[in-house]
Amino acid sequence: MLVKISVVGSGYVGLVTGACFAEIGHDVVLVDIDKAKVEAINRKEPPIHEQGLREMLERNKVKATTDYSEISGSDVVFICVGTPSSDDGSVNLDYTFSAARSIADVDHGIVAVKSTVVPGTTAKVRAIVGPRVAVNPEFLREGRAISDFMNPDRVVIGCESDEVFSVLEQLYSQFKTTIIRCSLETAEMTKYANNAFLATKISFINEIANMCERFGADIGGVAHAIGLDSRISPKFLRAGIGFGGSCFPKDVKALVARAKEDGIETHLLDAVLERNSRQPLRMVEMLKNRIGIKGSRIAVLGLAFKPGTDDIREAPSLKVIDELLGMKAEVVVYDPEAMANAKLVYGNKVVFAQSLKNAVEGSDALLLVTEWDEFKGLREHLSSMRGNVVIDGRLALDRADFKDMDFGGVGYG
Ligand SMILES: NC(=O)c1ccc[n+]([C@@H]2O[C@H](COP(=O)([O-])OP(=O)(O)OC[C@H]3O[C@@H](n4cnc5c(N)ncnc54)[C@H](O)[C@@H]3O)[C@@H](O)[C@H]2O)c1
Repeated sequence: MLVKISVVGSGYVGLVTGACFAEIGHDVVLVDIDKAKVEAINRKEPPIHEQGLREMLERNKVKATTDYSEISGSDVVFICVGTPSSDDGSVNLDYTFSAARSIADVDHGIVAVKSTVVPGTTAKVRAIVGPRVAVNPEFLREGRAISDFMNPDRVVIGCESDEVFSVLEQLYSQFKTTIIRCSLETAEMTKYANNAFLATKISFINEIANMCERFGADIGGVAHAIGLDSRISPKFLRAGIGFGGSCFPKDVKALVARAKEDGIETHLLDAVLERNSRQPLRMVEMLKNRIGIKGSRIAVLGLAFKPGTDDIREAPSLKVIDELLGMKAEVVVYDPEAMANAKLVYGNKVVFAQSLKNAVEGSDALLLVTEWDEFKGLREHLSSMRGNVVIDGRLALDRADFKDMDFGGVGYG
């Protein structure tokens, strides 16, 4: 069954969703209010960095537009607009409802909410667009978005009608995976529970790492050993300077805010957020224990919140850089993909190095903030440093290679 699919919101999730459905043969229209984004997509120039995306756009007929009337006649319309944090941490659903109102104005099919929305939201979308609605949360990871989309661990479809479920089930029938049907609220909550659990795992291992620093224990060894317990699993057990990105921080905050609205206490998730907000500053503390930061040239290696993406939203790098600038350091930054995004934030407040080699040259200290593969070759540039401090915020470097340096890291101190 080939269907006409429209995707409203052409960011990381929407563009990947559209490109992947086009790849398996469906007719896809992408709608976005950002004209520059729409034009870039139509020129086959993805506005985001995601492996394989450009080729996918080149191979397939994906049309982007700012005109909602082009979704007319769609079998399924996915809402993939952003659901950012409001100032109080609660989720801002303005884009979701605005998209729903625009969809309601045209002849549309099933409306499936892929954006991450708090329980109860899709019922409100239903009041705007009519009864044929579903929640189909997205679990892809930036940096591996296409592969995740094409090989999902499961597909969750929250809906009330057999007819709606049957269309979406068929749409996903080409993906070899488990399809779970549940209520709208269960699907909405599943996405938050998923991210909150992973965030908890990260804050947990970071707290253990901070103890290891003081107790003389090796966090790498501890994480490896507990990860072999099949009840725990080795994933999301790499200690570091915390989680960032456009999802974990905002989703945990949104869930906490939504729970508090109903008077539900969230001690555990409050602590997860608190641990995470402090974790990037552990790196600066380690640096402070080694050199005077004021006036020193500090190279921050990695800006993206994780490797494989150019996304710096809520990246720990931002906290580290802000702290260093506040302490009057000269900050030089380098990232293989995220420089353009960082320039929008920092302008001329930091030095943007052309390469890893340039970033290292003349610096007093190196802070490894994002574990890009390229940084594994750091060793060969060290002789051009002015100082000898290397701090590994991601447990990405082999300590044994840095015996001649003043080496530190999360979990080592
Ligand atoms: N980025 C991820 O890794 C990821 C993973 C899973 C789920 N999600 C969720 O998916 C949703 C989208 O995330 P994203 O990272 O793709 O966001 P994004 O900010 O990259 O993209 C959102 C897009 O929506 C567009 N938009 C906003 N209002 C619109 C409107 N009324 N009509 C049409 N377009 C509109 C924006 O211009 C933007 O291009 C969020 O709810 C997010 O939490 C994101």
